[in-house]
Amino acid sequence: MKTLLHVKSSVFGDQGQSAQLADRLIQRWLHQNPEGQVVVRDLVAEPIAHFDMQTISALSTEAAQRSPDQQAVAALSDRLIAELQEADTLVLAAPMYNFAVPSQLKAWFDQIAKNGVTFRYTEQGPEGLLQDRPVYVLATRGGEYRDAGLDFQIPWVKQILGFIGLKQIEVVYAEGLNMSGADAAIDQAHSELDSLALS
Ligand SMILES: Cc1cc2nc3c(=O)[nH]c(=O)nc-3n(C[C@H](O)[C@H](O)[C@H](O)COP(=O)(O)O)c2cc1C
Repeated sequence: MKTLLHVKSSVFGDQGQSAQLADRLIQRWLHQNPEGQVVVRDLVAEPIAHFDMQTISALSTEAAQRSPDQQAVAALSDRLIAELQEADTLVLAAPMYNFAVPSQLKAWFDQIAKNGVTFRYTEQGPEGLLQDRPVYVLATRGGEYRDAGLDFQIPWVKQILGFIGLKQIEVVYAEGLNMSGADAAIDQAHSELDSLALS
């Protein structure tokens, strides 16, 4: 049975454009994988605390020495990484907020990029430790940045995914959603989604 991990980060929840595009893709994936399991990690409904000294000290303390609070921090980190390791397919619903990803999604990446677990440094440089798998990114924006050389969001997403070993990345953009051509942009995104070869 295949597993798809859907990581949501829109503050608009299921009404978010990125969540709706992701749902369309997931329905297609389920049609193709009727026995498939979808795991949802909603970073807005269940926020992950920003990385801080308490997080770092919990993760760097030996498991047997951790306080109950530190155990909870480490358990969440382990759970988030396990969700990713166990997924055959990853769907990232990634709106642009202030030229970048939502801070909720950044907090998730801070948790899952773990030295020795999802990447490591070698004499030849960093090496991703996750087995590669398809990643579908739904990039929604109010404005238009893709062709203007002003996209700081998706290049970063591709960089960090590649850093942990995930290189089979398909991005579907829906740009200008706060502009007059929003309906056409959504139609275009739908047609791109519907023509993706899903695996
Ligand atoms: C806090 C916030 C910041 C935003 N910043 C940007 C931005 O920098 N550039 C942009 O094009 N759109 C920006 N937008 C608009 C969103 O990208 C747009 O509404 C998108 O459709 C949101 O996707 P979602 O519905 O999945 O959350 C912002 C929206 C919010 C709520």
